[in-house]
Amino acid sequence: MHTTMASLSTPPPPIAAGTTPKPYSSSFTTTTWPLFSITSKTSALKSLKHKLTCNAGSSENLHNLDRRNILLGLGGLAGVANLTSIPSVTAAPLSAPDISKCGTNTLSGFKPGETTPTGGDCCPPDSSQITDFKFPTNQAFKIRPAAHLLTPKYIAKFNEAIKRMKSLPESDPRNFLQQAHIHCAYCNGAYTQSSSGFPDIEIQIHNSWLFFPFHRWYLYFYERILGSLIDDPTFALPFWNWDTPAGMTIPKFFNDPKSALFDTKRNQAHLKSVVDLGYNGKDTDATDIETVKNNLAIMYRQMVTNATDPTAFFGGEYRAGKEPVSGGGSVEQSPHTPVHRWVGDPRETNGENLGNFYSAGRDTLFYCHHSNVDRMWSLWKMLGGKHKDITDPDWLNTSFVFYDENKNLVRVYVKDSLLTNQFGYDYQRVDVPWLKSKPVPRAPRSGIAKKLVGKVKKTEDVTFPVKLDKTVKVLVPRPKKSRSKKEKEEKEELLIIQGITYDSEKYVKFDVYVNDEDDDASAPDQTEFAGSFAQLPHKHKGKTSSKTNFRAGLTELLEELEADDDDNVLVTVVPRSGSEDITIDEIKIIYA
Ligand code: C2O
Repeated sequence: MHTTMASLSTPPPPIAAGTTPKPYSSSFTTTTWPLFSITSKTSALKSLKHKLTCNAGSSENLHNLDRRNILLGLGGLAGVANLTSIPSVTAAPLSAPDISKCGTNTLSGFKPGETTPTGGDCCPPDSSQITDFKFPTNQAFKIRPAAHLLTPKYIAKFNEAIKRMKSLPESDPRNFLQQAHIHCAYCNGAYTQSSSGFPDIEIQIHNSWLFFPFHRWYLYFYERILGSLIDDPTFALPFWNWDTPAGMTIPKFFNDPKSALFDTKRNQAHLKSVVDLGYNGKDTDATDIETVKNNLAIMYRQMVTNATDPTAFFGGEYRAGKEPVSGGGSVEQSPHTPVHRWVGDPRETNGENLGNFYSAGRDTLFYCHHSNVDRMWSLWKMLGGKHKDITDPDWLNTSFVFYDENKNLVRVYVKDSLLTNQFGYDYQRVDVPWLKSKPVPRAPRSGIAKKLVGKVKKTEDVTFPVKLDKTVKVLVPRPKKSRSKKEKEEKEELLIIQGITYDSEKYVKFDVYVNDEDDDASAPDQTEFAGSFAQLPHKHKGKTSSKTNFRAGLTELLEELEADDDDNVLVTVVPRSGSEDITIDEIKIIYA
């Protein structure tokens, strides 16, 4: 292992001045970050696999790592954190909302007559005092633990913290419902871009590159509030480890009706069952073993083949004056969104609580779900290669506001959210079985797209936009074929589904397959399954339809399917939920 030149020649990242991280708790395995540069996906996978799973063999290395080396290893990102000085030639970053202009009555699944301290909407208490957030100088270093591995003592502590949060006066911004409202306000049209000069355009933190940084900051303050309420600065938010078989059910303690963590608005049929990371809005007849297998394959698909570069992982750009239409990142779409919907209660009109953006934060499970989503950001970067944070200044300079644990309103920036070490937390080291869960071809069937020429329409013969009220099958031409290894490393072959118009108040999902001849579509653990588009219901200001894009990485799939030399790819788009009124403007293949 050796550090890259870049990381050695740049100064260490701005870890809060004077921070002396406390030693890791002995009950957890020491964590580390990649200290080497990786060029090929395979070696990246191998090395992460090694680091994450070979505790016996490599633990010595991991434990003996000097803290300073870890910081140097992170140095490669220091340049990113300093990008404020690069003048923006593009639009402008989105500025934190002016919360005094938080809109009422725009919402969002609130039942008629339902009141909140702020009058029936999800606006926070107003405060004209905003300060720029600074990391505390002596923050304790915390390890976020896997929820299913918690000790009874930790569960009791977590429960007590939530209990206290729930018993704060409703006007207190740290109050449990107020915390839930943060999520509602940022995603149901309560805030406009007025502070960026666009009072008629709303702010939406889903479906774009803002998804990961917004939720990281949100959880950070939530965790600090909980810690301060029980006077334990080491309190760390557990993560719902749905990406490993033992963690694939709702962590047991959430089901205890006497616990503050309990929520009645959950799907009663799912309280003890294996989560379906590809949930279509209804239960399948797959056995638990099949579901576990499919889940691991979905994780591989979304974290590896569909997340080859920053745009694929984080989602598309979203700047001041724009709507977030460029498309959500791989993990945001799936499994993040299906898990929300899988937990949400079908007895409730809007799938409350987790099944709808406005109410998601009212379930304590939301924060553990998102703790694991946030963990995916850390893991993804550990894979190396092109797995780097976005460097666009407009992303880095986007800001949000939150109330901290002292009820102060603070402004935070995306650029300060890139390193969990800077926040003073990391994740418990657990096995990452999906790295070894690459889907396998139903049958490697070279030339299938060729056989279907004349039988299935080519994109040029289809009249777009097409409706997705039934399965769409189309042959998509490949601008390049038989690419060399080098070309493949430089550019990923991407399937782009452009201009997807959908009803944003419905749970919308469709699955995409390549070179799958069968009418009975492949399972996620088969190579032909390319990925899913999924959207959680939410309200927008004065409109119900949204438009966005979807992309899936094809390079590895076409290799595995022995279709590298074909002129076309057979693409099958299968509607799964809320698709009656979806239309698609274009389906194409590009290289990026
Ligand atoms: Cu902001 Cu899981 O949603």
